[in-house]
Amino acid sequence: IFDNVTEAPPDKILNLSVMYKADTDATKVDLGVGAYRDNNGKPWVLPAVKEAKRVLSEDPSGNHEYLGVGGVPELTSGAAKLIFGKDSPALADSRVYTIQSISGTGALMVGAQFLAQFKPVKDAPVYISDPTWANHRAIFETAGHTVKTYAYCDFETLTLNINGMIKDLKEATEGSIVILHACAHNPTGIDPTHEQWEQIASVMAERKLIPFFDTAYQGFATGSLDNDAWAIRRFVDYGFEMLVAESFAKNMGLYGERTGCLHTVSNSQEITRRISTQINRVSRATISTASAHGGKIAGTILKDSNLFSQWLEDLKTMSDRIKEMRDGLRTLLEKLGTPGTWNHITDQIGMFSFTGLNATQAEYLKNKYHIYLTDNGRISLAGLNTSNLDYVARAIDDVVRN
Ligand code: LMR
Repeated sequence: IFDNVTEAPPDKILNLSVMYKADTDATKVDLGVGAYRDNNGKPWVLPAVKEAKRVLSEDPSGNHEYLGVGGVPELTSGAAKLIFGKDSPALADSRVYTIQSISGTGALMVGAQFLAQFKPVKDAPVYISDPTWANHRAIFETAGHTVKTYAYCDFETLTLNINGMIKDLKEATEGSIVILHACAHNPTGIDPTHEQWEQIASVMAERKLIPFFDTAYQGFATGSLDNDAWAIRRFVDYGFEMLVAESFAKNMGLYGERTGCLHTVSNSQEITRRISTQINRVSRATISTASAHGGKIAGTILKDSNLFSQWLEDLKTMSDRIKEMRDGLRTLLEKLGTPGTWNHITDQIGMFSFTGLNATQAEYLKNKYHIYLTDNGRISLAGLNTSNLDYVARAIDDVVRN
């Protein structure tokens, strides 16, 4: 029956983790998956998360019942405020619906399935940036959309190709859906400036394009949760009806708990009410109800002012260490006189650097130095630490010279 099943290619990011784990060389370095590591190269449980778990474990009314279809209420209300701002007019007017999701991927998938049925222009494609997170295409194609790309990175200068992006958006079919990274673009670490976001909003409004923001790094880009949500809030003010997929994997370190939210914004309370019934239906059919453990942890942090303050400190600990690694890597490469320019490492923001290394060079780094990075030259700076920084810089120097 299944003779015609062909083999799917391995996932480009997750497969790196598998290869890294299997590698027995003592010098190995994991710059692949975007997951925070401390300066000893170990996963870090945020102190705010530890405390929230303690609070939950001591709650006498704690249990393992199903969540309601919307998820943990403290999570969804707190997450909406985090994204739109607590004084958001859209929230005040009840024009936002938020549902808990299986992290950012689940939020994108529920949104993608909802749009497959209700996008205003049937057959309008979904546009993703070139390049983008490897899973974007797979998610939207799986939900039945045609996926196209818009220009994003100028691969020569490693800066935003704003003219190419605006041109592609101008030429997009009316009613197309455009996936936008709210901050800390993955994989490039290149974000539009506020002025560039204005240009993007203007052409999208003119072409009646639908924004679908993906935000997985709020708190990692500028170091401020509010600043990192600037583009989303600006688009709401602009009057867009839109979707937002939010992940707590990175900023709360809840990778395996699969904790996130999907937000939709419409022009009226009544439309939002109807949207909520359809989103609930899609979510029920795919995951039934959300997963309680991560939702309760994140909800506890968002509702408690002391835990929230602790979380802000934890975010700073992570983003400061990543910035140090950025500075360190650039300084070392410049000191070594590695051919090329390396300012992009510190110009870019978030968890990644888009180094400019190509697939052959990435392969060389893996084979000769046991350094793992994606074949588009992206490195997760969180995999660097004071013990391996010098080793990595020398390896990059070698590969660039050879
Ligand atoms: C990444 O880009 O490395 C992360 O978002 C992890 C993932 O799921 O791919």
